[in-house]
Order: sequence, then structure tokens, then C-alpha cells
Amino acid sequence: MCGIIGYCGPREASEVLLAGLKRLEYRGYDSSGISVGFRDNLQVYKKKGKIQALLDVVPESLKGNWGIGHTRWATHGGVNDTNAHPHCDCTGKIAICHNGIIENYVGLKDRLTDEGHRFLTETDSEVIAHLVESFYEGDLEAAVKSTVTLLKGTYGILTMHTDHPDEIIGARNGSPMVLGIGDGEMLIASDVSAMIAHTKQVVYVEDGEVVRMDSGSYAVTDMRNRSVDKKVDSISWELEEMEKGDYPHFMLKEIHEQIDSVPRAIGGRIDEDQATAVLGGLNMSEMELLGVKRIVIIAAGTSYYAGCVVAYLLESLARIPAVTELASELRYRNPIVEEGTLYFAMSQSGETLDTLMAIRELQRKGGRVLGICNVVGSTIARESDGGVYIHSGPEIAVASTKAFTSQLTAMYLFILKMARMRHMAWPEGKRFISGLLGIRKHIGRILEGENSIRELAVKYHKFGNFLFLGRGINYPVAMEGALKLKEIAYIHAEGYSAAEIKHGPIALINDQTPSLFIVPDDHLRDKVISNMKEIKARKGLVIALCVEGDEYAAEIADDVLYVPNCDEEFSPFLMVVPLQLFAYYCALELGCDVDQPRNLAKSVTVE
Ligand code: G6P
Repeated sequence: MCGIIGYCGPREASEVLLAGLKRLEYRGYDSSGISVGFRDNLQVYKKKGKIQALLDVVPESLKGNWGIGHTRWATHGGVNDTNAHPHCDCTGKIAICHNGIIENYVGLKDRLTDEGHRFLTETDSEVIAHLVESFYEGDLEAAVKSTVTLLKGTYGILTMHTDHPDEIIGARNGSPMVLGIGDGEMLIASDVSAMIAHTKQVVYVEDGEVVRMDSGSYAVTDMRNRSVDKKVDSISWELEEMEKGDYPHFMLKEIHEQIDSVPRAIGGRIDEDQATAVLGGLNMSEMELLGVKRIVIIAAGTSYYAGCVVAYLLESLARIPAVTELASELRYRNPIVEEGTLYFAMSQSGETLDTLMAIRELQRKGGRVLGICNVVGSTIARESDGGVYIHSGPEIAVASTKAFTSQLTAMYLFILKMARMRHMAWPEGKRFISGLLGIRKHIGRILEGENSIRELAVKYHKFGNFLFLGRGINYPVAMEGALKLKEIAYIHAEGYSAAEIKHGPIALINDQTPSLFIVPDDHLRDKVISNMKEIKARKGLVIALCVEGDEYAAEIADDVLYVPNCDEEFSPFLMVVPLQLFAYYCALELGCDVDQPRNLAKSVTVE
């Protein structure tokens, strides 16, 4: 989704901005642009397509030490050079970049047009430049503040004006914004990845705050011009973690990193003696945890599927009623918030707007929401009432992989804690811990067999439709596997409960629609085997993802992938990895842009 960056300092701004935009590429975008101030001139370059297209038109010798840049993910107006940001006012003295959606732009545009302003683009964002122009009387910050009071919707806005060299004004409502404090230079961006090459000292800007920065200082105020005291945080990520290293794609790197990211989510959180988990960030006493009667998990995309696995296990192991809901739906459903219900918001980025807005709605109604996030300092992490960081390191590929298994890990620890507080006995707790600690080794084994998954992708990538079928705790894993294939290989795939296919999807079965069955060695295995036979009886192709030694499943299937056997509750960790790799290799065979699939964004900061 749109990314923004601003720079004031001694370097050539274009270099910092373009390098920062490259780092923001992973968020998903379709065009980009920069505006660099030099003397009393704004030099604006905008281009549809990849950052490379912008690099091709920005002169290497571009002078100027302050500027703003943007990667656009189109919402209002087609993808073309004109609609790319920055946008200027009528005088060409003001430039703005905007992340978010201005919902009332039509009325504002009509009014400004009547007043004589000339609009050049189809975007909602351009009204911001003209509003700042209309309010400007020598104080840029005041003009921005007057502007944002008129805006309805979400925004992270950066503004510059030729009369204010070395000054950028940022304003935020609902879209992420973070300030980077460098040595004699200042940056501002939609996420820390854009500035980590320059500084690790950051200040998170909150909704309703306005930032004024120049190369040597910054000041944050609220809408009533009251100064806001901000805490300076340190980013823990290293620049190298954001590089591909020897891998051809971030996605492959991140799939492989699961060997380390799963144990990292466990690190220091197990009390072996008591056979339980220690989760300090929950901010809840044991008594409060004992009082939890129901758990609701809210999330989107891959995080939602991780939540579905977790809800299943919360019920079966901790015996707490639990459901997972799409944040986008819950938010507008007028949810009933009852005493005794604990909410979890799961989000890798910690910036997904639907999830954030659902949290706010729940908190407004008195709900307690814990965050399960990866990005430290992200908006969801900050606004939650407590939570657990999954610490999987930067996830750059748009399709989420390692975050899924780390989210499971963090929540499995919570399940252990809740179960041990209720009726799970000590030996059971010990068994659970050893299962969790054993996942790393199993993932390693699966990765060793990566070639067989690749071969399967070579054989199957040309099929246009797939069914991914699982049951119980692996039903959400089937949905996640189908999502991966859609996201990066653009192959239509449906994730379904294997039991449900007879109620409809079985009508799709022919020799052109393969079904991939997830067949763990669990209490539902025989039922799944029957479903496989039903597909075979109708001449459907069957791929079985089963455990080593399951010869019977292998006999029925046309093709087989094996994972090591493990206790039932840990099977989602092992089943999801081959599905991630299968999607990856299908995408590779099809020549797709694996890390930045078309139309998708990593961090979805609009509704
Ligand atoms: C986008 C990404 C998905 C991700 C979803 C939720 O759609 O492309 O990969 O699963 O957002 O993101 P979150 O950061 O909240 O986990």
C-alpha cells in the first residue's frame, strides 16, 4: 500500500528518497514519485510502474537537500504518471504526498474548483495540495492544520513549500507515520524500513498529531497547537535482515527462516519447571486470565487463517470457547462486547487498517484487546492493551509465510498458559512444550525435501483451478495454502473443509481440477481418506500431503508429499510449509513476480 518518505539534511535528497522508496517497494505499489526542493523551485518527477521507471527519469545530478517521495497503490484514479504523487497546488510552490483515502474529496474538489483551483489529476489526494494553498498565509504548519480539520477519512500526509526550505510538515490520521532522528538529518516515513539505513532512533507519530521537521530539529503538536512530548524508540531490526542475501526472492528466504523464527517466538517464554509459558506483555494478572470466559480473535488475510487454527486449539486444549472473525466484518457488525471476553488482534504488520479500526471499536465498547504483532512499535502494537510480539524479523515478501508460523507459536504459548491454569496436568504441559520445541527440526526436514515440492509444482503449475482440502485444525491451513497459490501464482484455488466438498465443490471435479488433501495422522484421517476416494471415483487428480509412512494415502493419491509425523496439534506448522513452497515454485514456473504480486500490498492501510 502507499508508502511515504520525507528527508531534510545535508545529503542529496533524491538519493535518500529513491533508496527509501526502494525499501518501501515491498508494501505494494503501482507508481512512484518524488519532489525535491532546490532554491525556490520544486522539482517533481512521477512515473507509473516500478521504481526503476522513476530512477530512469530522475537526473543523477538532481540538486536539493529536502524533499518528499511516495509509492502509490491506486485507489482513486487510474494508474498513470499524472495520478502518481507528489501533487502540487496551482502555484507549483506546494507539494504533498498522501497515504490513505480522503472520503469527502468530491465536495472539497467541487468547492475548490468553484474558487478557481485547477485540478490535474483524478485522485482524492490532490485536494490536500489545494486546501493547503487556500489556507496558506506564511505559516505552512498552520495551513496543514487547517486543511486536515476539513478532511474525512484516513491520511498520512507530507507537505513542503518553496518558501519553507528545509521544512516538512507531516500529519497523521489512521495511516502509519514515523519520524527518524539522524545525525544532522531528519527523516519521516510510513515505516521504519525506509529509514533504517540512516538511523535507528525513531518517534512514532500518533493520530491527530502534526510534525514539523527540519534537518536539525522536530516538534510534534496536537490540533490545538499543544506541544506533545514524544518518546524516542530504538529499532531492533538490522539492515541485513531486510536484504535477500543469497536467496533469489524474499519469499523463499522467509520460508527458510522459519527454522529460526519459530524458536525465536518461543525464546525465553517457557517455564520448564512449571510446564507453562511466561508471557509478560499480556498485562493481565492470573486472576484476570482465569476470569476469561470467551476469546475472539480478529485478523485479516493470512493472520486470519492463523487465528482460525488458534481458535480451534483454544477450545480443544484450553477448553475456552473461541472464534476468529474477519476484522473488516466485525468492525461494522456492531459487535456485542461482554464481560469475560478477551480479544486478540493478530497482525504481522501491525498496521492493517481493518484490524486497527476493529480494535478501536472494541475498545470503545470496553473490550480488552491484546495484540499479536511482528512489527515492534506498529500502531496495533501500540494501541493494544497488551500482547505478544512474534519476533519473526522483517517480513518483506507480500505473501506472508514466516509470520503465520510465528503467530501460531506465540498463541500456542498462550494456549499452554491458559490450559495449564485450568485442567492441563504437568506431564501434558511438558509434552506440549517438547512438541513445540520439536517443530524446528521437523521444518528442517521438510526444507531438505524441497526438491520434491518443486517437482510437483513443475508438474502441476499449468492447472487453472485447485481445491485445497483439510479438516479440523488443518482446515484453515487448506485455506492458507489456497490463498498462497492465488496470491503469488494467480491460480484460482479454493480452500475447503474436505467434509464439505460433497455439498457443492465436488461438482467442479474433473481431470483438470486437482485436489490437494492435507492428511495428518489425526482423529479425522480416515474421514479425509474417504473424501479422497470420492474424488478419485470422479476421475479427479489427487495430491496427498501426508505423514511419512502413510502408504495407504499414498496409494490412493496421484502424487504425494510427505511431512514428518508429529502430535496432532502441531501438524499445522508442518503442513503449511510445503504449501508455501508449492505456491512459490508454481509462481516461479509461471514467471510471476513472487515478492510483489500484482495488485497486492503487504500492509493494507486503507479499507
Ligand atoms: C495483506 C497482505 C497479507 C496479510 C494481510 C494481513 O493482505 O498481503 O499477506 O496476511 O494483509 O496483514 P497483517 O499485517 O495484518 O497480518
